[in-house]
Amino acid sequence: MYKVLISDAIDEQGIDLLKETGEIEVIYQPDSTVKDYLEVVGGIHGWIIRSGTKVGNELLTRADNLRVIGRAGVGVDNVNLDTATLRGVIVMNTPTGNTNAATEQTMALMLAAARKIAPAHEALKEGRWDREKFLGRELRDKTLGIIGLGRIGQGVAKRAASFDMEILGYDPYLSDEQFDTLNINKTSLDDIFAHADVLTAHVPINEQTRNLIDAEAIAKMKDEVILVNCARGGVYNEEAVAEGLRSGKIGAIGFDVFAKEPLDPDHPFLEFDNAVLTPHLGASTREAKENVALDICKQVRDFLLHEKVKNAVNIPFADYGKLRQMEPYVDLGERLGLLQIARASGPVKEVYIRVSGEFDDIKPISLGVLKGLLGPVSGDKVNLMNAALLARQRNIRIQESYEYDDSGYTNLIEVTVVTDDGEKRASGSLFGKEHPRIVRIDEYHMDARPVGTVLMIRNNDVPGVIGNVGSFLGSRNINIAEYRLGRQEEGNAALAMVNLDGPLTQEDLASLEQEQNILNVQQVNFPPE
Ligand code: NAD
Ligand code: MLT
Repeated sequence: MYKVLISDAIDEQGIDLLKETGEIEVIYQPDSTVKDYLEVVGGIHGWIIRSGTKVGNELLTRADNLRVIGRAGVGVDNVNLDTATLRGVIVMNTPTGNTNAATEQTMALMLAAARKIAPAHEALKEGRWDREKFLGRELRDKTLGIIGLGRIGQGVAKRAASFDMEILGYDPYLSDEQFDTLNINKTSLDDIFAHADVLTAHVPINEQTRNLIDAEAIAKMKDEVILVNCARGGVYNEEAVAEGLRSGKIGAIGFDVFAKEPLDPDHPFLEFDNAVLTPHLGASTREAKENVALDICKQVRDFLLHEKVKNAVNIPFADYGKLRQMEPYVDLGERLGLLQIARASGPVKEVYIRVSGEFDDIKPISLGVLKGLLGPVSGDKVNLMNAALLARQRNIRIQESYEYDDSGYTNLIEVTVVTDDGEKRASGSLFGKEHPRIVRIDEYHMDARPVGTVLMIRNNDVPGVIGNVGSFLGSRNINIAEYRLGRQEEGNAALAMVNLDGPLTQEDLASLEQEQNILNVQQVNFPPE
């Protein structure tokens, strides 16, 4: 039975969907404290959140069995993605379920700010019929600047166009063709600052977007500009915005999200009538809540029960399904990684992964290789999710390439590792689509099985060595399963891969290395086939 913790309120239909499987126990604890979560996270396999739960290092480190975090919504800034990735936890979101809700909220804030709806409403409720004070402005023929033209930014552009607004857009990750298709004028941030009557941002919060709109940017804007934020708190520098409201430079604001939520009671925005503020309600419609709850519960269910991945934000390859399709090759990559790390003397600086034959994707194989390479030397639990990140953290340079190979193998994976001592190469192939083989180590051709305990012995190519090795192992009561030999020319050093039925101790390995004509010995522990 899988356990899924739901720590923010979500629509019941989603919860029912999980329970109906009969294989998932739901722990529903919205709005509890970190202390409460610390008590349960150790036993959970899935965790569903909205923006209320902060999934930080401490919780993730305790969540030993956790495999998936599902965010009912878009922003995953409340999850420590690096730690989740390092721990092999997939983080998914529901990118589209609340797009329309947030788009409509943006339009509502824009209109409310332009027409002073909130203070007029307040005044009326207080008994004042003040028709002069709340003179508004129209959106028609005004210029709307949109920063970030993803799902919500585009939705806002479409609606604003029907209000006869002229639209200027800034999104460095969108191509000119996309701007043309959207019929939006592509421009620079400075141009938006200079010409927008209304400015709205629809970007994620990150190092580039935090304080994107600060005092300097506001100084470049038109007088009485209207600013809208229905994206993420922190994109606008709130002190600078408050100062703009105070000086009259900014005409009005419509904000749904804030750098610190909930808003402090002494937040400067609260003193202004021309600030329309909502408590992060962008996604709070019945429709959106149902959508995101159903979407995320289906995604978490499908991952836990069927390993299906949808909308993952932290997997290092676009198509998770491909990883499963390519599993035997990923496994061969991992075995080559294990072999190469055993042979490497000193820290690995560069890795070259070259494949040839029947592959249409190299990334999953490369992750397998990195997992094999880092597993034995990393203090972290290495998996396909975190291998690339761990390699980056160790400054290992990785190069992947497809190459034509005329050696006759239908598939071939070659892994070269570079250390201070130079480079070492090994190639493997999958025979009959399922049997891993090492076919080459440096200049030695061979046909060895990277399975279980394997001794790699380099020895002088003279008579009697195999017999000596056999006697040595026999004296330790260790059976030889296979003995595969490779050599270049008669009389040169030979290389053997010897599959054993059990491992040798470190002392025995050292003694074997002292035997006559043995040059060096390494023991590699491969997974079973
Ligand atoms: P999206 O990923 O579809 O779009 C984000 C866009 O921002 C992308 O096109 C990207 O290219 C662009 N971008 C990234 N960095 C940029 C930069 N430095 N400058 C300019 N553009 C940049 O996301 P979305 O679904 O449209 O959501 C947009 C934002 O709205 C997110 O922050 C999301 O968390 C937030 N959101 C808020 C609510 C709410 O309740 N208020 C609801 C849903 C989404
Ligand atoms: C989101 O990113 O999806 C929104 O902020 C809505 C929410 O809080 O769930």
